[in-house]
Amino acid sequence: MSTPEAIRTQILALVKEYHTAKFAPKTFDPDKDLVHYAGRVFDAEEIVNLVDAGLDFYLTANRYAERFEAEFAEYLGLSNALLVNSGSSANLVALTALTSPKLKDRRLKPGDEVITTACGFPTTLNPILQNQLVPVFVDVNLGDYTAIPERLCTAIGPKTKAVMMAHTMGVPFHLDTVTDLVKKHNLWLIEDNCDALGSTYTMKSGDMNRIRQNSVSCPQISPRLTGTFGHLSTFSFYPAHHITLGEGGCVATDDDDLARIARSIRDWGRDCYCAGGESNTCGKRFSQQFGTLPYGYDHKYVYSHIGYNLKVTDMQAAVGCAQLRKLDQFIARRKKNFRKLTEILKPYADRLILPRATESSDPSWFGYVITVKDQAGFTRNDLTTFLETNHIETRNLFSGNLLCHPAYQSIPHRISGDLTNTNFIMNNTFFIGVYPGIDDKRLNYIKAVFNRFMAGERVS
Ligand SMILES: Cc1ncc(COP(=O)(O)O)c(C=O)c1O
Repeated sequence: MSTPEAIRTQILALVKEYHTAKFAPKTFDPDKDLVHYAGRVFDAEEIVNLVDAGLDFYLTANRYAERFEAEFAEYLGLSNALLVNSGSSANLVALTALTSPKLKDRRLKPGDEVITTACGFPTTLNPILQNQLVPVFVDVNLGDYTAIPERLCTAIGPKTKAVMMAHTMGVPFHLDTVTDLVKKHNLWLIEDNCDALGSTYTMKSGDMNRIRQNSVSCPQISPRLTGTFGHLSTFSFYPAHHITLGEGGCVATDDDDLARIARSIRDWGRDCYCAGGESNTCGKRFSQQFGTLPYGYDHKYVYSHIGYNLKVTDMQAAVGCAQLRKLDQFIARRKKNFRKLTEILKPYADRLILPRATESSDPSWFGYVITVKDQAGFTRNDLTTFLETNHIETRNLFSGNLLCHPAYQSIPHRISGDLTNTNFIMNNTFFIGVYPGIDDKRLNYIKAVFNRFMAGERVS
């Protein structure tokens, strides 16, 4: 009889064959195929890993999760990467970590203010509300869609304790301003890096500007990955993102104390930090005093946070390990598609605001964001209807203005200044894809469809 390992080898060889048979590349047919705004890009390796993890039948996080966390932390150059089941969970874990009693007088308390934007994804904002903190909304620039730096400076009040914002569509927000404010006012910084894996920013004053307490200062001025500037950063691995685990996300930090708190919040709130299969990592499993529990109560069942269970399965992590190997090529293709779309759309810059990077940044673009100017002679919806009718997928810039949505009508909040651009974006902005599944054929097709629209053709 064959050994399990020999059978595994046969199965995985068959999986490769299956991939070739099932997912053979097809030629693009614009009459039938959509030009997606985003999507998973994979080869046989992802499916092989998935089945390999399935054959282990460990089910919960195991060898692939450990590998992904180690490799992802190494990619970022940080000491900790914690897998969670979504980018939304990553945001929830990261912000909730800052409310931990373990942070003593540095902890965020109900009523403290957190600076953010209203023009974004709901689950950047939701953890602020879920933790009874008060969001302070700052308007964003048209073109880069990140917080206006001067508005950030004026937004800070006596109750402001943190900044939590996204690098919108891959564009790094103004990190020189933000890290200066964070240092000056002793704030926490969470970078929602869900849309910006691979984006870089070069600090004007070099890495001396680092805000992380335990990082080694390194004076040369060089680009650094977003997601490495804040006390904590978050990532999404939903299929629309730079790499995918299906559902998945990550919290990253260079601060080991914050990592331990975040892990506790991810893992039911438990105080114990044993990895799966271990049982006495602290060496004091039955000899500690916690709360009003009897002395020596089993550390495995001691809860120091009001936590959740937001972990991933090993099957998800297995897919992620294969995706991570392709990350550099994915980022390169996103940048190339961005450049090509800019060439295609430059002639229409009189009617469209084309996307641009913030100063000192090199975005790993999430999408190609377009704003229809007021005097364009057509509306955003005229253009998106035309594109969609011609099989080019479009998406609005997420919520437009979160404050206009039913769920947020009566949330406690403060607006610093006004949200003029945010409201303009709600009405005039959308994006199309730059993801690596968009090849030159699709780019040429996009060009032809835009040319027809700009020449006056409309959906009848
Ligand atoms: C900026 C931002 N933050 C958070 C999320 C949430 O990620 P997930 O869909 O994995 O929950 C998204 C989702 O696209 C996002 O764009």
